[in-house]
Amino acid sequence: MTTAPSEAVEGQAWAWLRALLWLCHLCRMSGQLTPLTLPPTNQRPSPQGSPDTRSAKTQLVESQQVVALNALQFGYKLTQAQKKLLQDLTPKARRELEERTAKTRIAQDRVYLTHLRHKHQIVPRRGGGEEIVSLANRTIRFPVLLKKAPLELWPEQYRVYYNLTHYPWVKSKDCERFSTTFTPPGTLPTRGLASFPSSGNTWVRYLIEGATGIFTGSMYDDTSLMMKGMYGEWLVYNSGMTVVQKSHGFTTGEAMTLDRDIRTGHNHLQELGYQGVVVIRNPFKALISHRHLDVGGHTGFAPKAHFLGQGWVEFVTLKIRLWRDFYEDWVRKTQPNDICVTHYELLREDPVREMRGILKYLKIPEDKAREAAYSTARTNMQNTCTIHRLPHFGGSVGMAHRGQGRGNAHRICPSSRQPAEIRAEVQHHPRRT
Ligand SMILES: *[C@@H]1O[C@H](CO)[C@@H](O)[C@H](O)[C@H]1NC(C)=O
Ligand SMILES: *[C@@H]1O[C@H](CO)[C@@H](O)[C@H](O)[C@H]1NC(C)=O
Repeated sequence: MTTAPSEAVEGQAWAWLRALLWLCHLCRMSGQLTPLTLPPTNQRPSPQGSPDTRSAKTQLVESQQVVALNALQFGYKLTQAQKKLLQDLTPKARRELEERTAKTRIAQDRVYLTHLRHKHQIVPRRGGGEEIVSLANRTIRFPVLLKKAPLELWPEQYRVYYNLTHYPWVKSKDCERFSTTFTPPGTLPTRGLASFPSSGNTWVRYLIEGATGIFTGSMYDDTSLMMKGMYGEWLVYNSGMTVVQKSHGFTTGEAMTLDRDIRTGHNHLQELGYQGVVVIRNPFKALISHRHLDVGGHTGFAPKAHFLGQGWVEFVTLKIRLWRDFYEDWVRKTQPNDICVTHYELLREDPVREMRGILKYLKIPEDKAREAAYSTARTNMQNTCTIHRLPHFGGSVGMAHRGQGRGNAHRICPSSRQPAEIRAEVQHHPRRT
């Protein structure tokens, strides 16, 4: 059967995911298992404190340290026990442990790269060297080590990931030839793609990748996006290889509940060079969508009860302030020409027109062929390169609450309006303190 290779790769991906989940499970378990239970052993029981027992115990602790370190590197939340386990290591022991796990990981990845060569997903490149080929229905694994590693620290074997070419639209005659790649390290400025959650960030990334052919990056490490071919998710945000970097600033995670003054420092403005594309969506729609996401996962829906009562009131009270503060920071603490404000509703109304503005701001030439593919695809929702929906993402991202775009809104991307106008717009939104 012709689908066998894809199944093999898919099987691999699943195996990998299962291993991850198992690892995660282990991490949780190890935090709960006190006192420690020793693994079964064939050796005769030896008296307390004898070298045998000590070494078994040492081995167990070591294996738990490895699990904790892996969890840390995979971005999982550590249990108190795991944190302590890592804290108790001397700097030297910690370094040795890190080196050991990295070595194992590198060896595993080398096997994987060999596998990709066998499958012809790593092929010789015309200009010399090699490249990785990824298809929407045959994605590849991006090494976990790389997310936190500055490019200059990448072990040599990973450099081939610079030359990664992804084909997002394999099922469309019009679009199958278009691909997405990285630019060489350090060639793009670090810029944001800033939005409140559930305001179309992933969809806009998809549009930008489609229009530019360059991967978008992120301040986060969402494995599900990476596994679907948004490989920019897995680089450090300041690699200079990705065109914009997703950020929700302080509107998610632990920074949410910090004092206003301190919170500002968590808005990623500094990291992102006080520049980027700012996506604003009707906050009422964004909040409802955000609630669905929080409760029901990326494509799920929250039951009615989650939009009633005290819990909902608290959610709205906190989130609407975060919404306002987040956009205020982005508009007030930046120079007007350094940002490009776009609206989800306007993008829905006429994505091609909005994208032209965004491309102009990004100083990336419009690609008429890509645009033509888009425009014709727009009338056909089934076409896999339509820009109204994300293919292979469960279908509902960016589709959930179709915008009723307000025709009279201004288009301000690239910034054609005065900062005062933008400020007025931000201030116009509900302010309840
Ligand atoms: C991916 O999809 C294309 C188009 O439908 C098909 O020709 C190709 O065989 C598929 N590849 C794999 C690996 O399944
Ligand atoms: C990546 O591609 C370039 C040519 O574009 C080539 O010179 C380089 O060797 C390739 N890198 C690897 C690791 O194959």
